[in-house]
Amino acid sequence: MSISKGLFITFEGIDGCGKSTQAKMLVDYLNQLGDKAIMVREPGGTKISEEIRDILLNRHLDDICDRTEALLMTGSRSQLTYEIILPKLEKGINVVADRYYDSTLAYQGGGRKLDLEWLIKLNYFATYNLDPNITFFIDIDPNEAQKRKDQEEDRIERAGIDLQNRVRSAYVSLAKRFNHRYVSINGDDSIESIHNAIIDKMKKKNLIK
Ligand code: ADP
Ligand code: TYD
Repeated sequence: MSISKGLFITFEGIDGCGKSTQAKMLVDYLNQLGDKAIMVREPGGTKISEEIRDILLNRHLDDICDRTEALLMTGSRSQLTYEIILPKLEKGINVVADRYYDSTLAYQGGGRKLDLEWLIKLNYFATYNLDPNITFFIDIDPNEAQKRKDQEEDRIERAGIDLQNRVRSAYVSLAKRFNHRYVSINGDDSIESIHNAIIDKMKKKNLIK
């Protein structure tokens, strides 16, 4: 289900692919056009979701089991959807999300090997069935992405390159399965050319003028 008033645009990909950079640039672009837009990021974005984020990314909590991880990621998303995303969309404000439910499908499904169909159902429950209008998957080799990292690794990044490779493959499968909303973008290109490709795609799909 999608809400017709505001656009819901999501960015996905492995850690360090350039999602946050592009999400911010798109929000600025939309606001300059006069199409009011806000950005949200996951896990987090509300008081409760940020508390959940602290647990999820804490380097000292290595013993979280995969199912708890999936439930906490999805719990954080549920609160964000209820408190921020749905009310903004209903007011006609565009929402640009740095990660949404595809991250759980890719990381906890592909990465941690939990049952994908079950995670899809769980996420529909958590998000009141809210689908993105369009999802930009910024695809990059995990070795390249790792070279870009300038901050200390969080608990999930520390799980290593094998997990990132499985997550990337999962995104490639999701892009095929949900091809009506997915747009795959080559993350090796320059920041400016990726931004231009995103704007072109939005125009071609008549999402912006
Ligand atoms: P993510 O949100 O996917 O983890 P970021 O947008 O934070 O990624 O980018 C990670 C780092 O890579 C940042 O230092 C950013 O400036 C840089 N970066 C982002 N996009 C590109 C690009 N296309 N080419 C080179 N470096 C990039
Ligand atoms: P973050 O610092 O936001 O990373 P990034 O800038 O790459 O988005 O950390 C989020 C981490 O949590 C990242 O490793 C991806 C992971 N994650 C999941 O495993 N499942 C999820 O559902 C979400 C939203 C994130």
